[in-house]
Amino acid sequence: MSTPQTLDADPSITPPRLWDPVVRLTHWGIAVSVLFNAALDEGGSLTHVSLGWLVMALLLLRLVWGVLGPTEARFSAFPPNPLAALRHLRDLAGGHPRDYPSHNPAGALMVYAFWAMLALVTVTGLIMTSGATPMQVADDKAAVASGDWSALIKESEAEDDAGLRHLAEETHEVAANLLLFLAALHVAGVALESRAMRRSLLAPMLLGSRRK
Ligand code: HEM
Ligand code: HEM
Repeated sequence: MSTPQTLDADPSITPPRLWDPVVRLTHWGIAVSVLFNAALDEGGSLTHVSLGWLVMALLLLRLVWGVLGPTEARFSAFPPNPLAALRHLRDLAGGHPRDYPSHNPAGALMVYAFWAMLALVTVTGLIMTSGATPMQVADDKAAVASGDWSALIKESEAEDDAGLRHLAEETHEVAANLLLFLAALHVAGVALESRAMRRSLLAPMLLGSRRK
């Protein structure tokens, strides 16, 4: 059976010169929104919830694309494989990493970790806001007046599901911090890999035309 590992041995294998528009749009949309929500806006504000919903939509689109998109964007092109990831890191440390037809196996693990954390941060966000859409937030005079969901959350904490909401709040913050940690590791990985491969990994995620 043909797997990405057996394909590695084929010198004709090259990673995408340019990721397709859906991968690029979802990547940069998610990256900017996550950084904004984690570091720049106020947790629970209308902007925060709106960006959170945008992230949910982009994540769903990307997951559908993992089945319907072009070959290199499909889940089957970068299966989670910890042993292959270790092998790749060993090759990288030895200064001779190989090309892969999609994300390299270490990058693939990072991608799945990102998606899991994004799902966790959005689900816990939905629990805290009882699934209210940004439109409902805008309609809610109290939330708009304070520009903040915190007051509503404090109110509802007196209700029956206070325990669940509190757990969601704690988990939301931990997941957001883990996302920032993963992002730092991810940017370092992209830089390291680009250096070792003597080509930019960033260019195909931007506008293409990487040096070969
Ligand atoms: C997309 C990624 C997201 C990130 C990185 C993120 C990050 C954060 C962080 C760091 C906080 C704590 C802020 C603080 O204590 O000042 C927070 C609070 C909050 N977030 Fe998010 N968030 C995201 C998505 C969402 C979504 C999708 C929703 C709702 C649908 C949401 C609703 C809230 C609410 C209501 C709070 C306030 C909690 C409180 O008052 O204690 N967030 N978020
Ligand atoms: C919180 C911020 C970020 C998140 C959540 C994130 C997430 C991701 C995800 C999920 C992928 C896989 C793309 C896909 O298949 O759909 C990816 C790939 C990639 N990201 Fe990010 N990213 C972030 C920030 C950045 C930044 C700041 C850079 C710029 C250096 C960057 C550069 C890349 C590159 C070059 C790839 C492709 C790697 C490869 O060739 O395999 N990312 N990122």
